[in-house]
Amino acid sequence: MRMELESLQRESLARLQGAESVADLEQIRVQVLGKKGALTQLLRGLGGVSAEERPVLGELANALKGVFNEVLAARLELLQRRDLDLRLQSERLDVTLPGRLPSVGGVHPITRALREITDIFSSMGFPSATGPEVEDDWHNFGALNIPVDHPAREMHDTFYLPSGPRGEKRLLRTHTSPVQIHVMENRSPPLRIIAPGKVFRCDSDLTHTPMFHQVEGFLVDEGVHFGQLKGILAQFLRLFFERELPVRFRPSFFPFTEPSAEVDMGCLFCGGQGCRVCKGNGWLEVLGCGLIHPAVLSNVGIDREKYSGFAFGMGVERLAMLKYGIHDLRLFFENDVRFLEQHARV
Ligand code: PHE
Repeated sequence: MRMELESLQRESLARLQGAESVADLEQIRVQVLGKKGALTQLLRGLGGVSAEERPVLGELANALKGVFNEVLAARLELLQRRDLDLRLQSERLDVTLPGRLPSVGGVHPITRALREITDIFSSMGFPSATGPEVEDDWHNFGALNIPVDHPAREMHDTFYLPSGPRGEKRLLRTHTSPVQIHVMENRSPPLRIIAPGKVFRCDSDLTHTPMFHQVEGFLVDEGVHFGQLKGILAQFLRLFFERELPVRFRPSFFPFTEPSAEVDMGCLFCGGQGCRVCKGNGWLEVLGCGLIHPAVLSNVGIDREKYSGFAFGMGVERLAMLKYGIHDLRLFFENDVRFLEQHARV
């Protein structure tokens, strides 16, 4: 029995030393000290040993137990420290690395252009007004001096909607000019308004999208003349494009203005020398404008003898493309994050 105890001691201590994990240690402990463990079984055999040998062997067994527990504790501590070191190594965090920036949204370039345009006009005393995107024929055409069958209606490829409850023709507004009518119907002069918003035309190719944005502006007062219109628009273009620019007014036609003009500014890209953007002529067409046709004033019940006014309308996508150097209209609507990030401003 003594020999068995001694060999158990040798063998179990060697196993403890060789254990490579906390789980191994536990397994060895159970195999030695557990209910059916090797030492436990040996101790059970003590009963059959002679009276003088019993205390000696009991002491030996206790000593074995003590040594075993000490070695076990030491090995356990070592393995636990090693595990911790391994984890510290593998989960090491470099606190000197720069942090990951959260991606921050920004305003779409069209929104940015709209804000810049309305800010400039606001500084000139033009507050913003809005109107419905679903219009009736009267506001979009009739009141603007575009009667049924007038060829000018063909200039606008209109999206017609099912008729309204009283049989009225409904459509998606083709320009922001109907906001002029809404405002003039509901308020009396003097009036000074800017009207930004979406407009819709049944047209889609490289340079046209079925939805785009316009900013309308108009002023009605006594003694309004073309010189004021010219001054306001030339000043607007210089502020918007942040530079001195030649501006010219070319005679044109709109049913709701008389006289009417198209506004050109010197090409931003070639300084008037002629390039691909201005198609070689040195000028970029940017706006339509004119003095409000007296028939329009009559249509909304404003005294055309007493009052006169001017109006203008501009395409926001076009102005944004020119200002921010965007060459393809479709980029505004594809929502490619790379494009949006490049132009985003908070
Ligand atoms: N409504 C015109 C268009 O969409 C622009 C315009 C507005 C022209 C006001 C003159 C005056 O083309």
